[in-house]
This record gives sequence, C-alpha cells and structure tokens, in this order.
Amino acid sequence: MTRETEVHPSDLIVPLFVENGENIRTPIASMPGQFRLSPDTAMQEARELWNLGVLSVILFGVVPNDQKDAVATASYDDFGPVAQTIRAIKTAVPEMCVVADVCACEYSDHAHCGIIHNGEVHNDATLELLGRASLCYAKAGADIIAPSDMMDGRVAHIRQALDENEYSNLPIMSYAAKFAGAFYGPFRDAADNTPSFGDRRSYQMDIANRREAQREVQADIEEGADIILIKPALFCLDIIRETRDRCDLPICAYNVSSEYSMIKAAGERVWINEEQLIGETLTSIKRAGADLIITYHAKEWAQRQ
Ligand code: PBG
Repeated sequence: MTRETEVHPSDLIVPLFVENGENIRTPIASMPGQFRLSPDTAMQEARELWNLGVLSVILFGVVPNDQKDAVATASYDDFGPVAQTIRAIKTAVPEMCVVADVCACEYSDHAHCGIIHNGEVHNDATLELLGRASLCYAKAGADIIAPSDMMDGRVAHIRQALDENEYSNLPIMSYAAKFAGAFYGPFRDAADNTPSFGDRRSYQMDIANRREAQREVQADIEEGADIILIKPALFCLDIIRETRDRCDLPICAYNVSSEYSMIKAAGERVWINEEQLIGETLTSIKRAGADLIITYHAKEWAQRQ
C-alpha cells in the first residue's frame, strides 16, 4: 500500500544483438543468458517478450570483419542485420516498439563511434553518416531512432534528415549523458566494437562530471530529442534524479552490460541472492527517476512476475 515505486514489464526495453544468417543463437561468454541472434530467432524472441508483457526491444548489429570499413558503410545497409531484423519483428509482432541503435562503432574497422580524421574522431564529418543510418532504419520500419555515438549536434542533424524524408513523426531517443569507462566491457565482446586504438574519452563523458551531464541533456533537448537516455544506470542514479527534477521529457536509463555481468557472476557463485538483487536494481533505477529501463535482465525478470 505504501510502496512508492513499481516496475512493470512495459517499462523495460530489451537489447538484442543481431547478425545476418538463420537460426543463430550463439551464447555471449561474458554475458550469461544473452545471445547473438539472427533476424528469424530475434523475431521468435520478440514474440516471447511480447507475450510476457515486454513491449520493446533495442537492436545492435554485428557484422563480419570483412564488411567493416573506415566509414562504417554497413551501418546504412538496407540488407544489414538491423534493417532485416526490424522488418522481421514488425511483420511478426507489428505492435512491438522496435528501437534502432545508431552508431558507427559496430560497423567500422577501427570500432570508434565516428569517422576518423588525422587519428581522431571527427565530430561533424560523422553527422552525415548518422543521418543516413537513421533513414535506413526508419525505412525498415523502426519506431524510435536512438543515436549512441555522443557526437555534438547529431540530434538536430538526424531530426532534420527524418523530417525532410517524411519521418517527422519518428521520435529520437538520444543517449544524452553517456560516460566513458570500463562499464561497457562485456558489450564490446558481444558487439565486437573494442576501439583498435585509443579510447572513447574525446566524445563520451568523464564519470566525474555531474554538471556537464546537465549541459549535454539541455543541448539534446534544444536539438529536439524526445526521450533522454542516461548511461550507465547504476553508476548514474544521481544524474538520473537531477535530470528528472529539471526536465519533463521521458527518461530512459541503460542498465549496461557490466552491471548485468557483475550480478550474473556473483549469482553463479551464490554470493548474492540474484533474483532479489535484480528486482532491487530495477526498482532503484526507477526510484531515481527513470521511466524506461534498457536491461538485459528483462526477460528473466518478466518471467517471474
Ligand atoms: C556503442 C554502444 C555501447 C553500448 C551501447 N552502444 C558501447 C560503447 O560505447 O563502447 C554499451 C551498452 C552496454 O554496455 O550494455 N555505440
């Protein structure tokens, strides 16, 4: 009766890693319970999630090395894994909300999130690429475009590209405050996007900076973002709360791969009560102020409700 915060299956967005092929369900070693899927198995997964009351997925593409190049051409391939999976899911479960992650790192041979000029990621040269990828996923039927690259000005650029091509109703969920660090290690195994040189600190944020996070959020709001994403969730509960107090847009928090794998590893050793801790994790993220949570725990958690 007095409980202030409830988590519902419909608050959750499930990350799916997809590659081209058929009948693929390859376990991801550093993320027990997670798999690389093909469009057909992703479609089955979406159906199961829908039946559990989980209404949304976010797609990350994985392509073989010989399809990667310096300018991430595969990120706007109409027959790439993300576009194919969007079409498959929207055919089988038309009402499922399919979010398309937009970024260069899974498709470029250097695995940085943008285009490289003179050994550094070039912000403005990357914007056109992000616009092209967004349009490719919009055409395939995506319901939300989610740029995760952290280039400045990309929300405005993507908004304009969508509006000029009759996708003015398509919302943008922007990774507004995304911090650089070791948080994404297991994801990089799953999506094969570890940078071949340097790190992401020239475009992702310093984990020490709380005021800067609000400047990043404000910039994305001014550029037309519809949903604000903050990441990594558990390391940023204060940032989520501060954003909730300052802005009225829906907030999505990304319960990232390391947060997932730490619970899984401790759970395997029976050092923690895994089931209880997953519930407490999701509740804490909502209590901090998130409306939506991207989480690898979603299916397991929903099955127990
Ligand atoms: C890259 C991207 C990353 C994640 C989502 N999109 C990794 C990175 O920035 O290296 C990580 C999510 C996770 O760790 O679960 N565009």
